[in-house]
Amino acid sequence: MAKRRIHSWPVRLTHWINAFAMCCMFMSGWAIYNASPLFAFRFPTQLTVGGWLGGALAWHFAVMWLLVANGLIYVLYGLASRHLKRDLLPVTAKAVKRDLLDALRFRLVHQKGVYNAVQRLMYWLVLAAGVLIVVSGLAIWKPIQLQELVALLGGYDVARYVHFTAMAAIGAFVVVHLALVLLVPKTLLPMITGGLRPMETGKPDHD
Ligand code: HEM
Repeated sequence: MAKRRIHSWPVRLTHWINAFAMCCMFMSGWAIYNASPLFAFRFPTQLTVGGWLGGALAWHFAVMWLLVANGLIYVLYGLASRHLKRDLLPVTAKAVKRDLLDALRFRLVHQKGVYNAVQRLMYWLVLAAGVLIVVSGLAIWKPIQLQELVALLGGYDVARYVHFTAMAAIGAFVVVHLALVLLVPKTLLPMITGGLRPMETGKPDHD
């Protein structure tokens, strides 16, 4: 019988490409923001790439293709292989409430190869924020050619705020995501090697 991995190789590959691309997009995006801030603060220069506005734009517009192509591959693979349905669904309000309360009481049992309801909800929300950041990014990249899209978002200035808000939402996700990996570090190795489902290892399904 073929061994089933906890994370298939396309999910792992797209996950790590996404982590790299997000990092570049954040750092170049912060440099672009610093050239014309929306709020009364700037991001520290040490956290930016590109060196100057032109350089940061070049990074942003180069890596966006990688981010979008990789995201499309992840979604298409997720649909074709049924990964999205099998591993990220269902997400019910009742299960989210139950798992959130258990997590806050440090009572949530980690089952190898199974995402809890809070994780599933967070993954769907970050995917939605990913769509929003790309759509709003397209609007502020080509505001003349895509003026209908700009209008749909409420105008150029609003589209900038939407883009920033989506960035902040993804940033908040990453902070919580990394904190959870630190809290349950045994989830990291399978995201690199693939790991094996409990049925294949003969070990109990949680520890
Ligand atoms: C260095 C940074 C990162 C690390 C160490 C990391 C680590 C992990 C680990 C260990 C898992 C598996 C969790 C489990 O099995 O319970 C996971 C899944 C996931 N991560 Fe990350 N992650 C990182 C960055 C990101 C970023 C930037 C995003 C998106 C903005 C992201 C989105 C996801 C998603 C959507 C999943 C579920 C994948 C699936 O099964 O389809 N991660 N991550």
